[in-house]
Amino acid sequence: MSKICVIGTGYVGLVTGTCFADLGNVVTCLDVNPDRINKLNSGIMPIYEPGLEQLVKQNVSANRLSFTTDYPTALKGAEYAFIAVGTPSGNDGEADLRFVKSAAEAIADLAEESILVINKSTVPVGTGDWVAEVIKNRRGNRPLNFRVVSNPEFLREGSAISDFMNPDRVVLGSEDRKAANLVAQLYQPLRCTIMITDLRTAEMIKYASNAFLATRISFINEIGNICEEMGADVREVALGMGYDKRIGHSFLDAGLGWGGSCFPKDVKALEHMAVLHGTHPQLLQAVMEINRNQRRRAVMKLRKALKNLNEKTIGVLGISFKPNTDDIRDAAAIEIIHLLENEGAHIRAYDPQAMENARSVLKNVVLCENPYQVAENADALILATEWNEFKQLDFSRLKVLMKHPIILDGRNLWDPETVRSYGFTYIGVGRGNTTKP
Ligand code: UDX
Repeated sequence: MSKICVIGTGYVGLVTGTCFADLGNVVTCLDVNPDRINKLNSGIMPIYEPGLEQLVKQNVSANRLSFTTDYPTALKGAEYAFIAVGTPSGNDGEADLRFVKSAAEAIADLAEESILVINKSTVPVGTGDWVAEVIKNRRGNRPLNFRVVSNPEFLREGSAISDFMNPDRVVLGSEDRKAANLVAQLYQPLRCTIMITDLRTAEMIKYASNAFLATRISFINEIGNICEEMGADVREVALGMGYDKRIGHSFLDAGLGWGGSCFPKDVKALEHMAVLHGTHPQLLQAVMEINRNQRRRAVMKLRKALKNLNEKTIGVLGISFKPNTDDIRDAAAIEIIHLLENEGAHIRAYDPQAMENARSVLKNVVLCENPYQVAENADALILATEWNEFKQLDFSRLKVLMKHPIILDGRNLWDPETVRSYGFTYIGVGRGNTTKP
């Protein structure tokens, strides 16, 4: 049993803290946002993440997990301090390290004689060394035995708890092997592969992993666009490719492109770092451009199907950046809605979890209670997020409600023939001549 302090209660911090508590450690999670901490102390989750609420409650009742805004309370007796604060994109895509700095300074001010500082926030390569400097300078001549270890997170929203408990690998980076081994002990109960490397390499593994996954998606989207012209079906192409063990099946679903809190920010930050250091990251730039284009292309397809979008009503199914989350950061739906609005379209939309988040950014959108309300008088529907509840819609009911029976299946969720059999014009992504309006 170890005493752990986790700074930051966003996705990463909250899931990490809760899971470490569940593994038997005593964890105090700190956040500077009192509203967030008050909610957590009343058992209200600030984010939607399957399984999280129950796990938090269990561990709070077992006295292994607590929440505070008070740094002295959080750091009292802590052997491990995880930094899991946000690193938003600043100018030019550069990661903004303000919150990392203030966490490091608090650790320097309040840690007792020794502490392991573990960086979970996604930070530019070299930040671990910088955090060590910040702590050293701030501490001045009061002795502190500390080491900085990088421990990038690979959690996916929507399956973060099972990703934490069953990781493909845990990466630890430090200049001090002993320090890395001490952090490795926290992960021993998971019986997973633990890779220990140096600080900068660990930091780079995180960026390279996310950039590679984003590249796979942009790759298959580009192939999909070619498929549309060639009369091939990108789903079958991806399936056929994926049987090759060197390629595999995951992250080859063509659609409206990647979004969320990580891929867009991390690919941009990696590109920024590369340019800053004099290299020419042309693949990363193309990967981002393909992603932007994928959203514009969806709007182009609707424009083509409806002749023009001015004064047309478009229904949007799904707003979150992917299913099983209420997160709308860099969601394809949001960007597509704005592009459609720019062309004079009226939007009706529904999402199973993201309505509250959507309300603040989609001022002119009619937010509906279900897919059928979305369809009322719509000239076309676009499926932007492949939530399970959209898998089996009543297409005959939708058709009666809509003004024009046109569906753009932005995630290739449905079988084109089935949808067509109800009298719809079906437009998919990368699905050969079926995608042509
Ligand atoms: C990602 C990484 O997977 C995770 O390891 C990292 O730590 C954080 O970033 P997450 O942002 O939760 O996780 O989402 P992910 O499931 O990776 O999906 C990212 C985006 O790619 C979504 O918008 C999704 O719709 C899109 N996507 C994913 C595709 O368009 N096609 C695919 O085949 C897979």
